[in-house]
Amino acid sequence: MKKILITGGAGYIGSHTAVELWSAGMEPVIIDDLSNTQEKVIDRLEEITGKRFSFYKGDCNSRELLDQIAADHQIEGVIHFAAFKAVGESTQKPLKYYRNNVGSLLVLLDWMKDHRILDLVFSSSCTVYGQPEVLPVTEATPRQEAESPYGNTKKICEDILVDFVKSKAGVRVISLRYFNPVGAHPSAKIGELPLGVPQNLVPFITQTAAGIREKLTVFGNDYDTPDGSCVRDYIHVMDLADAHVKALSFLGKQELDFYEVFNVGSGRGNTVLEVIHAFEKVSGQKLNYVIGPRRPGDVVKTWADTTKINQVLGWYPQYSLEDSMRDSWNWQKSLG
Ligand code: WQD
Repeated sequence: MKKILITGGAGYIGSHTAVELWSAGMEPVIIDDLSNTQEKVIDRLEEITGKRFSFYKGDCNSRELLDQIAADHQIEGVIHFAAFKAVGESTQKPLKYYRNNVGSLLVLLDWMKDHRILDLVFSSSCTVYGQPEVLPVTEATPRQEAESPYGNTKKICEDILVDFVKSKAGVRVISLRYFNPVGAHPSAKIGELPLGVPQNLVPFITQTAAGIREKLTVFGNDYDTPDGSCVRDYIHVMDLADAHVKALSFLGKQELDFYEVFNVGSGRGNTVLEVIHAFEKVSGQKLNYVIGPRRPGDVVKTWADTTKINQVLGWYPQYSLEDSMRDSWNWQKSLG
């Protein structure tokens, strides 16, 4: 059975990808510094899959720890999620973001080359597009100046991967540009665990519905969109996880020195108010929200053109926006 190292594998997208990898007949090996998640996620993964995955607590910047993992396991591929991802914090602490997000990729690539590990799927983001001029966004859309140090780390990492592959390092790499990940595993045993006040829309919605937050503020309803609120492409985390499995399997059939980028989104644009109404419909609860001022730096509207990933990887989203709201709400309720 192929063993795949998942960096950040105890995190939101990483844990769901671990489940899908196992379902596809591959064995995850997880490294996570637990800075944005909890070790009990490993227990939840065992409950879902019946398998206790090898887990290493630590930082991907630690070459020593990566060497230990290579000594313990025959790793045949890597999915690299581990990164700090709070846009706001990144403007306050840029060096923390460059050191972790960019630094860990450099250590990982050296390690892969030394241990002849060929395949890497990298977690990138639609944030590299900024506010696209043409919608839906294709991979040919020029990347924009990053709106934050976080977004810039994603662009820099993509550039590093392009140059590393060009150097004939003998690897095969896919960068997946995520749109907005939402939802949770249908079992409600794993999901998004935002520590502190959620920055993202859907956890704020579910925490408001759960009474943890008093109300949701919609950041602006005077934009040039169908109902005035911002448009995003919300993709169910299980669909996103499946995209990683298909990307890894696809890499295994390619020549060395391969690099491709794919958008991963639902291909649908939904406004903030449409998300709220979808949540109210599936939860049967009226959500307490108010309209507030615009949030600086917000992209007005973006959603993915998924033609390339559909045609090349044979990947299609299976979950709807309402599925995402249902699973997010079930997950929130499971937290008590
Ligand atoms: C979505 C919409 C808000 C909260 C961010 C990162 C991006 C990626 C995904 C990592 C926007 C509105 C939100 C609230 C609101 N992360 N909103 N009230 O900003 O599209 O993307 O997360 O890769 O890099 O930038 O996601 O969930 O913060 O916001 O009205 O309390 O919801 O204005 O229109 P965003 P988000």
